Amino acid sequence: MAGSVPPLTGRIGSIAATAEGREYLAAVLLNGLGGPIVANGQRYSAGMPPFRYLKDAEIAAILTWLAAQNTPPPSPVITEQEIANARAHRISSGEVAEMREQLDKIHPLP
Ligand code: HEM
Repeated sequence: MAGSVPPLTGRIGSIAATAEGREYLAAVLLNGLGGPIVANGQRYSAGMPPFRYLKDAEIAAILTWLAAQNTPPPSPVITEQEIANARAHRISSGEVAEMREQLDKIHPLP
């Protein structure tokens, strides 16, 4: 899958450093992501399926684990409550891509 899916280790930790970034990450896992996006200087347009069937605690654990990879400590923690809050606002995968563009303006994405 190299080249079709953006690298996550080393990037998620910095995205998760802000509350808005954590909101975005929760939205990606819950609603999917309908590109195209530019990550790490490269364009991706495959789109990602939603993982809404996972429990809040499971998504929080996956994101917290990813946020710690290739990230200097202390790495950010994504809580179950943050996932529950994001779950309450169902949006389309295209809206998640728009959310990413807005996030990039306030906290430039790696
Ligand atoms: C639990 C497993 C997964 C996690 C935690 C995860 C996480 C993420 C995150 C956080 C992003 C956004 C990256 C950014 O904004 O820079 C992303 C993007 C993406 N993911 Fe996943 N992902 C997972 C599984 C998958 C799977 C199974 C696929 C393919 C079937 C996939 C395909 C993609 C693609 C193609 C993108 C770029 C989006 C686009 O091109 O529009 N992901 N993923």
